[in-house]
Amino acid sequence: MSTSRRVSLTQYLVEQQREHGRIPPELRLLIEVVARACKRIAIAVNKGALGDILGSAGTDNIQGEAQKKLDVISNEVLIEANEWGGHLAAMASEEMDSIHVVPNRYPQGEYLLLFDPLDGSSNIDVNVSIGTIFSVLRKVGHTRGVSEEDFLQPGKHQAAAGYCVYGPQTTLVMTLGNGVAMFTLDRETGSWVLTSTEVRIPEDTKEFAINMSNQRHWAAPVTRYIGECLQGKEGPRGKDFNMRWVASMVADVHRILTRGGVFLYPWDQREPDKPGKLRLMYEANPMAFIVEQAGGLATNGLERILDITPTKLHQRVAVVLGSANEVKRATGYHLEAP
Ligand code: AHG
Ligand code: MN
Ligand code: MN
Repeated sequence: MSTSRRVSLTQYLVEQQREHGRIPPELRLLIEVVARACKRIAIAVNKGALGDILGSAGTDNIQGEAQKKLDVISNEVLIEANEWGGHLAAMASEEMDSIHVVPNRYPQGEYLLLFDPLDGSSNIDVNVSIGTIFSVLRKVGHTRGVSEEDFLQPGKHQAAAGYCVYGPQTTLVMTLGNGVAMFTLDRETGSWVLTSTEVRIPEDTKEFAINMSNQRHWAAPVTRYIGECLQGKEGPRGKDFNMRWVASMVADVHRILTRGGVFLYPWDQREPDKPGKLRLMYEANPMAFIVEQAGGLATNGLERILDITPTKLHQRVAVVLGSANEVKRATGYHLEAP
């Protein structure tokens, strides 16, 4: 649903707090701070070749991936912005081997923030949409201090999740567990304006997103599901499908929230010991929470992503998400497989 009354992010959050009692002040602060950090990242992204932001940073992250300058810059922006507010106990990021505990000089809060500071890194230098993904957990228990263990909670316990897409428009998409709202950055006033509420993903779709270049490495249920889509009208699905693959999960999920679709990043034989490419805690979980809140589904092919209890911070997971009937079908094919 698009909105006509001009509501800022701050106003939206205050209303959520007042009317629905959904968010404590610390969570409101957290979201405002993340949104402000995304604004700073958006400014860096927009500088492109005019700023020192393109190309490689010359370092690798814990996943063994080469870091881009913008991966490192975005990570620093998010940490600096979130360290001092007193809302967080610790942070975790794709770009940091271990958790970042809020330094002693600042008060410690009860929230844990996880992020993929810059998603779709391969698209930075070619001027294609990229994004930031975040997930918020509560530190449970009353033990002093904070450790990686505190983060290892299933995604269904997220207090909030969101992403920002840096595309033709800069859009912040968020859930507090009562539906999904979208905010567009008004560059003239510098504020986030509420532009959609009650976002719904249609149950049916004719559009799928998968990296087809990995086809020869897929498991049988994925080959079957995509094979049937490709057969179009003449095949068992009886309709033609379209394919889209941005290679930025943020952009692919945003398309699905906007007009439906199904996204798959399945396990494949390239790295048989890893469950998939995407990371559970700061890519799949926040996206699964948002997608479910918009009426879609998200599984790893066998079970609901939000039910998985993580054992490691940088754990990977296979992902099937989007329009409910397609996710049910693709998951069904996995469950039926011998
Ligand atoms: P990141 O840039 O944070 O490492 O994430 C990239 C991810 C995801 O955004 C995207 O869906 C996928 O990797 C693209 O993978 P391919 O290189 O196989 O297209
Ligand atoms: Mn990513
Ligand atoms: Mn990333």
